[in-house]
Amino acid sequence: MNVRDSEHIIAELGNKEDYVLTNEACEADLILINTCSVREKPVSKLFSEIGVFNKHKKDGAKIGVCGCSASHLGKDIFKRAPEVNFVLGARNVSKITQAINTDKFISVDIDYDESSYAFSEFRNNAYKAFVNISIGCDKKCTYCIVPHTRGDEISIPAQLIVNEARKAAKNGAKEIFLLGQNVNNYGRRFSDKSHKKMDFSDLLDEVSQIDEVERIRFTSPHPLHMDDKFLKVFAQNPKVCKSMHMPLQSGSSRVLEHMKRGYTKEWFLNRALKLRSMVPDASISTDIIVGFPGESDEDFEDTLDVMRQVRFEQIFSFKYSPRPLTKAAEFKEQVPPDVASNRLKKLQVLQEEILDEISKEKLNLEYKVYFEEKRNNKMLAGKSDNNALVQVEGKDEWLGTIQKVRITNPKRLSMYGEVVI
Ligand code: 5AD
Ligand code: SF4
Repeated sequence: MNVRDSEHIIAELGNKEDYVLTNEACEADLILINTCSVREKPVSKLFSEIGVFNKHKKDGAKIGVCGCSASHLGKDIFKRAPEVNFVLGARNVSKITQAINTDKFISVDIDYDESSYAFSEFRNNAYKAFVNISIGCDKKCTYCIVPHTRGDEISIPAQLIVNEARKAAKNGAKEIFLLGQNVNNYGRRFSDKSHKKMDFSDLLDEVSQIDEVERIRFTSPHPLHMDDKFLKVFAQNPKVCKSMHMPLQSGSSRVLEHMKRGYTKEWFLNRALKLRSMVPDASISTDIIVGFPGESDEDFEDTLDVMRQVRFEQIFSFKYSPRPLTKAAEFKEQVPPDVASNRLKKLQVLQEEILDEISKEKLNLEYKVYFEEKRNNKMLAGKSDNNALVQVEGKDEWLGTIQKVRITNPKRLSMYGEVVI
């Protein structure tokens, strides 16, 4: 979502203020840092980065801090780094032109509603288009700062989403990537109360009716809202790519309850295994937090058990990081850092074993790959329908096309193959 926010900022500044991008910070008239606040590390990095940019920037160049850390740190940023010219919170992106033209501008209102704002156009990638479908998040997971930085959830009107997807697809982006904090909660609240009633499954069907759209991806869905209707559309709509992100967070029902995730280990397994039986080729990725307050060895074993049963194709794993404004930061039984580190290591070793098995099974399989990028080593890289990274030695004209590829060398993180003509 931050990548898309950055594209919106670049688009507004390019269109309304004649800014162009540069890779050299020392040439820039304006330096923007778009920040995350989900874990503590990137927040502490922010201030050291501001220092480095301040040292190297040209005279008179401005520095702006945007994104989630801007939202939650607010005017403290000016106090800690007086060289910053403006602070623009997530969900206030449409005010970027005002921000650059106002001394010490600050806007971090998490109730600000830009769900119907039509941003100018800019896309980093010609072949795939990110399209926001909602802003904010209505969940209150006890470890998560996002509801405090991006505010309550509001769905973007379906017509705006469809128009944006159509325009991007007509310009060559065969793949549309729908974005939201909790995509399968789509349709719960629109700013315009008269918006027609619809849910995420309906939205997937509408976007798939655009002729030029060949692939649809989305992130992130919430396991709690994976009802049968959603799984059926996922399984049956041929344009919906067969890869699902299912953020588990923990395999222990006790920990899940303390996290306020709204589901149990059994519910998660039921949905994941149902998905596996409905779409055997689908890949499933997940997010896991280890060392959540009160997590015992037994709780952690439950997480490993879910990993063994689901055999995720990809895992993003994190050590729990206490965040300001969140309930879990006040929980008493914080897990010692070395215990959390050991669990993280154990989890990653198990995942490598699972991935070694999974990748062996891929030898000689054929995938439809959408080539999006030419790598420095002259390989063409793209994603299979089920989200595997595939690289081939190939011709430039394959960029932006979908080709059938036979896997000749499957590795854990990237598979190598050859195009089958
Ligand atoms: N500590 C560690 N990981 C976190 N995440 C969110 N909040 C925290 C936190 N306080 C992880 C979750 C989420 C992903 C984007 O970041 O796994 O799904
Ligand atoms: Fe954070 Fe939970 Fe919302 Fe995801 S669903 S953004 S983890 S509060």
